[in-house]
Amino acid sequence: MLVLGLETSCDETGVALYDSERGLLADALFSQIDLHRAYGGVVPELASRDHVKRMLPLIRQVLNEAGCVATDIDAIAYTAGPGLVGALLVGASCAQALAFAWDIPAIGVHHMEGHLLAPMLESTPPAFPFVALLVSGGHTQLVRVDGIGQYQLLGESLDDAAGEAFDKTAKLMGLRYPGGPEIARLAERGIPGRFVFPRPMTDRPGLDFSFSGLKTFTLNTWQQCQDSGDDSEQSRCDVALAFQLAVVETLTIKCRRALKQTGLNSLVIAGGVSANRALRTSLEDMTAALKGNVFYARPAFCTDNGAMIAYAGCQRLLAGQHEELAITVQARWPMEQLPAL
Ligand SMILES: Nc1ncnc2c1ncn2[C@@H]1O[C@H](COP(=O)(O)OP(=O)(O)OP(=O)(O)O)[C@@H](O)[C@H]1O
Ligand SMILES: [Mg+2]
Repeated sequence: MLVLGLETSCDETGVALYDSERGLLADALFSQIDLHRAYGGVVPELASRDHVKRMLPLIRQVLNEAGCVATDIDAIAYTAGPGLVGALLVGASCAQALAFAWDIPAIGVHHMEGHLLAPMLESTPPAFPFVALLVSGGHTQLVRVDGIGQYQLLGESLDDAAGEAFDKTAKLMGLRYPGGPEIARLAERGIPGRFVFPRPMTDRPGLDFSFSGLKTFTLNTWQQCQDSGDDSEQSRCDVALAFQLAVVETLTIKCRRALKQTGLNSLVIAGGVSANRALRTSLEDMTAALKGNVFYARPAFCTDNGAMIAYAGCQRLLAGQHEELAITVQARWPMEQLPAL
């Protein structure tokens, strides 16, 4: 089954062709980062308008790259939520219109299920069951995964998502959007131990997270540096490293706890923050000590992309699921509401 996947939940237009027999045939992405950078974050109306411009050229591009024509496509998968409603509507209406014109089924995919299943596109995919850490711009969740659609939420952030904390902290320190890669880049040159930040909510039981206090702690530290006349590049790197280490260690402590609690030793990390090298190394060391493994997608498939939507949609389509001819999207959509395969 050849599935066209469309992703438009936020500020990336992602399109891919995934074949259930041959795997991923092509994927293309247009990132709107430059468009939103001037505003320090995503402007929803600008995002929607840009998706409209990019979608059809990207579909033509993946068809060309895969050496396919429109009539080869068996079904269309599109992100139906959660995300920015205007942006989601572009992908949903495009998918439903093409599905109607080509007389093929369409399926709305949950964006976080897409992220969660992205590591399945790699050469050594994880086997069920596993614990998943979803760490993106809008989510920080620990989920027990027993199969596609069999999700049990173990814990989540009570305030900012991890990616959001990276972005907001970077903005407060005068860094560019998106802040995650900027902080990671500076942290590489930071001096370990000069600053030590708290590991929020690790001193009490449970699997929930809170990152907004850490953001304020980082801002205060950076302001103290500046007030004492030290706004050097080295100090910026040292603060970035202390912040990144606090996030990484907090996530690692909670992941270890989730593995112990569930009795599992397979961990999947997904979403934009899973591209962070320090996080990957820390989780690799932690799971190795438990005689387990950590699985993640290639960096391009950690952030938003069409491939993960084509893959997730394909699994559900193969199980006989598809959407009615209606354009429905959801800004909020708990993953536990998804039907099991
Ligand atoms: N190397 C990195 N280190 C830390 N954070 C990173 C890194 N690369 C990307 N990020 C962060 O990942 C986030 C983007 O990831 P993603 O595209 O999965 O999120 P989103 O789609 O905006 O949110 P959601 O998936 O929850 O709707 C941003 O917050 C960005 O700063
Ligand atoms: Mg995302």
